[in-house]
Amino acid sequence: MKEFIKSFPKVELHTHLNGGIREETLNKWHKNKEVTKYIDSFLSPKTNSQKAMENCFKSFDLIYEATTTLERIKQLTKEVLEDYDNENCIIVEIRTSPRKLEGHSILDYYNTVIESFQEYLNNRNKNTPFYPYLLFSINRSKLEIGKETIDIANELRKQNNFVKGIELSGNPYKGDINKIIELMNYSKLLNMPFTMHIAEKIDDNEMIKLIECKPSRMGHGTYVNNEGIDLMNKYNIDCEICLTSNMVSRSIDNYNNHPILKNKNYKGKLFFCCDDRGLFRTCLTNELLYAIDNYYNNLSEIEQKNLIKKLCLDGINASFLEENIKNELKEYVEKINI
Ligand code: IMP
Ligand code: ZN
Repeated sequence: MKEFIKSFPKVELHTHLNGGIREETLNKWHKNKEVTKYIDSFLSPKTNSQKAMENCFKSFDLIYEATTTLERIKQLTKEVLEDYDNENCIIVEIRTSPRKLEGHSILDYYNTVIESFQEYLNNRNKNTPFYPYLLFSINRSKLEIGKETIDIANELRKQNNFVKGIELSGNPYKGDINKIIELMNYSKLLNMPFTMHIAEKIDDNEMIKLIECKPSRMGHGTYVNNEGIDLMNKYNIDCEICLTSNMVSRSIDNYNNHPILKNKNYKGKLFFCCDDRGLFRTCLTNELLYAIDNYYNNLSEIEQKNLIKKLCLDGINASFLEENIKNELKEYVEKINI
């Protein structure tokens, strides 16, 4: 099954650029040449969910100490694209939060990522379809630059084909809920598609308010309650599931225990994703394999393969790509005989 999943076209709908850094690249660029060993030392021990989540954010700060120049951002972006391309992803929705690198603006950061996308595609030798695109992140710890981020996304999407929307992420224990709602409404006003990390912590009140923003999709949803599930059904909000990430942040205690996957009332689509491919040392092939092994192990082999195909088609439909590209990709996938 692993070989089948690896070679089959796949859709990634939830992956963070800096979290995608390769282990060897992080060690090469960081002043501590064994930084990944150090990260392992505090990401591994069993801790409660909030502490484990804080440890993830401590890891992102260490990554930021390594991805300090535009040249490195360019290299990082190319490596992330190459890693997904090598495991036969056909759509990769990459999100990244605004950075002000020394001597540079947020716009410089985003233009560098975009240039890198273009260069990667220009130099690509494969003839299979490959459609990476970008969401700009609203970071819960830096809401004050949220509006500027949305404005930059809105400008850049007019200039190139890679910028498609907005997403909300960052430390779930930070950020004023009213300010978040205001920013999501601004995004809506501009007709900018958006997706949001929701229910990464226990806070039913916040969860409901965030679902009421009606994002296209929800990331994680590990602490969604029944009322939240009903609202997701009502508003057609699908869920991006990141099993390995949830294990590392201790918001699930076992790969087979994701509340949305176990909830019989949930009617939306499911998208299995990596979240932070490099930091969590995972890949989309593995995430799909975990899904099959833990939630669909009662199916026959042929049914499991058909499920992988269906997940790919659902992912194409839920992506923020143009309809003509979606149709082209669906035709490409439909034609593959299992
Ligand atoms: P970047 O946006 O490219 O810099 O990718 C790393 C950033 O993504 C982190 O600093 C977080 O703000 C965000 N991020 C990555 N994983 C998670 C998660 O599981 N929950 C919330 N935010 C996350
Ligand atoms: Zn995420």
